[in-house]
Amino acid sequence: GTTLRAAAAEKGRYFGAAVATGKLSDSTYSTVLNREFNSVVAENEMKWDATEPQQGRFSYTGGDRLVSHARANGMSVRGHTLLWHAQQPSWAQGLSGSALRNAAINHVTQVATHFRGQIYAWDVVNEAFADGGSGGRRDSNLQRTGNDWIEAAFRAARAADPGAKLCYNDYNTDGINAKSTGIYNMVRDFRSRGVPIDCVGFQSHLGTTIPGDYQANLQRFADLGVDVQITELDVMTGGNQANIYGTVTRACLAVSRCTGITVWGVRDCDSWRGSDNALLFDCAGNKKAAYTSVLNAL
Ligand code: XIL
Repeated sequence: GTTLRAAAAEKGRYFGAAVATGKLSDSTYSTVLNREFNSVVAENEMKWDATEPQQGRFSYTGGDRLVSHARANGMSVRGHTLLWHAQQPSWAQGLSGSALRNAAINHVTQVATHFRGQIYAWDVVNEAFADGGSGGRRDSNLQRTGNDWIEAAFRAARAADPGAKLCYNDYNTDGINAKSTGIYNMVRDFRSRGVPIDCVGFQSHLGTTIPGDYQANLQRFADLGVDVQITELDVMTGGNQANIYGTVTRACLAVSRCTGITVWGVRDCDSWRGSDNALLFDCAGNKKAAYTSVLNAL
């Protein structure tokens, strides 16, 4: 294939980008997006603060716009994210205990129901594990409602949209380390107890190096019987950027249950990482060396 989407499709994978729907009217942006990508995820517009700005009052404008753009352009949609400690509406930040638990589960049910049938995979829970050596959960208002909040969220999501793959998504999980092993143990436990989980997302916000066991880490999760996906890939600029992009792409292709790769934005100027110039296209929409490295690896 001569585009990322065509080359990925030939390998039975998708190639996606995070989108801010406000940029779809920028023709440089949408030309690259529609030509190169066959999967999209909302960079912000399906998060809790965006979809339920006041308790019980839901707002789907941005999410619906993205879904219709995807449908019109032959793209699948990743849903990001139902529950997360960050980007919560202020009303949720002020809740705790059973009031927060009930609000959180209601949020999962309402949002997953609204988008039912339109989402390929949902990041049901995002970033719930701690950094560092503990391998344990991150402290958050959601965690303080009880350790079972994650499985409750997955059960609610399955009930609301039985057709969506349900993922756990996190960062700093790019090799075999204490954090990724903590997540691995949770997924293994969920599978053994019948808690509905179908996939694990590896954000892959990378610096100037990539762990040597990146592929082995994906494979150990796949061996638990779940799909794996690269969900928010971006790589700090520098001599290794193109090589690292190629290494990630080859790792996904080498793991049969790695179903696709998403980069966290289209052009360098769209990236949350600012001066890192972390993406595949420059600000004018030109292909970078990192693009060629990905395309050649596919
Ligand atoms: C980022 C967005 O890119 C920014 O626009 C926003 O201000 C903050 O969130 N991990 C995630 C994503 O799961 O949702 C984050 O997206 C980047 C880190």
